[in-house]
Amino acid sequence: MIPQFDLTKEYALLEEEIQHELKKVFAKTNFIGGDNVTTLESNIVKYLGVKYAISCNSGTDALHFALKSLNIGKGDEVITTPFTFISTLEAIMYVGAKPVFADIELDSYNISKTEILKKINKKTKAIIPVHLFGYPFDVRDLKREINNDKIKIIEDCAQSFGSGINCQRVGGIGDVGCFSFYPTKNLGCYGDGGMITTNSEQVFDIVKKLKNHGSSKRYHHDVIGYNSRLDEIQAAILNIKLKYVDQFNLMRVKVADKYDENLSDIKNLSLPKRSRTGHHVFHQYTIYSPIRDKIKEGLEKKGIGTAIYYPISLEKQKAYKNQYSEKNRFSNSNKLTKNCLSLPMYPHLPEDHIHMVCSAIKKII
Ligand SMILES: Cc1ncc(COP(=O)(O)O)c(C=O)c1O
Repeated sequence: MIPQFDLTKEYALLEEEIQHELKKVFAKTNFIGGDNVTTLESNIVKYLGVKYAISCNSGTDALHFALKSLNIGKGDEVITTPFTFISTLEAIMYVGAKPVFADIELDSYNISKTEILKKINKKTKAIIPVHLFGYPFDVRDLKREINNDKIKIIEDCAQSFGSGINCQRVGGIGDVGCFSFYPTKNLGCYGDGGMITTNSEQVFDIVKKLKNHGSSKRYHHDVIGYNSRLDEIQAAILNIKLKYVDQFNLMRVKVADKYDENLSDIKNLSLPKRSRTGHHVFHQYTIYSPIRDKIKEGLEKKGIGTAIYYPISLEKQKAYKNQYSEKNRFSNSNKLTKNCLSLPMYPHLPEDHIHMVCSAIKKII
């Protein structure tokens, strides 16, 4: 069996260090709001070069709080991609704003700047580009082009920890950055977790309250908030894994290089695009093929795991479908849902497994 994702090798490598830190957390029994959380926030501030980092319970909460802190709600429009995980859309719906989709580029799989520009109007309050699969979207270029500080840019960095463009890390380029620490992410914990990053003191002040029942002082609640605290166990694990994240991201790039070497110039197969100005951290290695289903089936028969991220373009999701009149308009997003396939990808994927996957694909094609 070659799984699409596997954490066991990474855990074996870090086990001693993690167990050592967890023992300290258990001895202290201060499970919520302790030193590890504070340290993680300041580590992320340093790593990203931003002024503020506020931990929370998930990437979904991070996106929700980002929108709330920018006072986006009913009557406002938020532009985003239809080719992403549902959370990006959920957050917009939670605050009562109208999601406006802009189609993606077929090569980078990211939202298209040209399509975004077509959708901007007086009601546009924010844009949420997703750095999908670890490929950095050029936020600064978009900012320059729209040249309007009233339109806020919230970076969905859930799949792109450590990625960057022109030497600036994602999460520190737009107005707010939102991260997920779900276990499969490039920086993942062993449960749920998230982070909001920003240079805005106002965003910082609001989010700090929102994530902790609307309070800045114990039992004094200024606004109605939420229970969205990262716990000490997850923060301790993240502090350890943060030390290795650049190394592990490079290992992902090496896996991608090997795939590229072995799979280039094959008929009916396109490989993921490399970013010229940015650092792609390969959360996923996603190929494009008109015979995607055949490849998937053939690999499955050989015990090779793959995944389809994503099988449905968001405007067609059952939970959302009836609210959008521009059905089927996002031809690139819809093409990808039918033709994309994510191959096994994780830092410790053995080289012989990469070769097995590639030769199996060649045989199938
Ligand atoms: C692009 C994207 N945005 C947001 C999220 C939400 O993160 P979480 O699962 O931590 O809520 C995810 C998680 O899979 C994601 O992939």
